[in-house]
Amino acid sequence: MRKNFVVLNGVIAIILLIITQSCAPKSGQQSNAGMEKATTPEVTKAICVLTPTDGSHVTGTVTFTKVDGGVQVVADVKGLAPGKHGFHVHEYGDISSPDGKSTGGHFNPENVNHGGPDAAVRHVGDLGNIEVGADSTGHYERVDKMIMLNGPHSVIGRAIIVHSGEDDLTSQPTGAAGSRVAEGVIGIAKP
Ligand code: CU
Ligand code: ZN
Repeated sequence: MRKNFVVLNGVIAIILLIITQSCAPKSGQQSNAGMEKATTPEVTKAICVLTPTDGSHVTGTVTFTKVDGGVQVVADVKGLAPGKHGFHVHEYGDISSPDGKSTGGHFNPENVNHGGPDAAVRHVGDLGNIEVGADSTGHYERVDKMIMLNGPHSVIGRAIIVHSGEDDLTSQPTGAAGSRVAEGVIGIAKP
């Protein structure tokens, strides 16, 4: 009788163990934070398709490719007046307002002054100017050391704005580049 009782207790203990094990969270499902860390692949290429703001006809593309020494930025635009046009990465990838203002100011995670792309002090988003020719098209190429595709300075999900005027590279906090004529959100591209 006593022996049977011990065996029964053992069986109950095993059943309880099975129940608690099957209810416990499986490793790898413990938290979203753990999941994000474990599965985020490195971004090596991104693209921004530029669409006109209200009253503008400016279109274009900007690509970002990780290369030795930084990120290569290549921009092609059309529909702009000849001359220099400021363009920057702006803080928010929100292009819902017709004037481009919902993208916020220049992407500036270090909270420093505006500057030219080669200045020692500049916003991460300061890319300078695109030069547009008589045919109203412009091409821009630069390997940038501050634009990142990963980490806290990543530009993924932020916006590009092209301006009506020239960025003077010194006026604070925007370079006095005028209104916003084209905008787009920077998204992850196929490598
Ligand atoms: Cu801007
Ligand atoms: Zn700036």
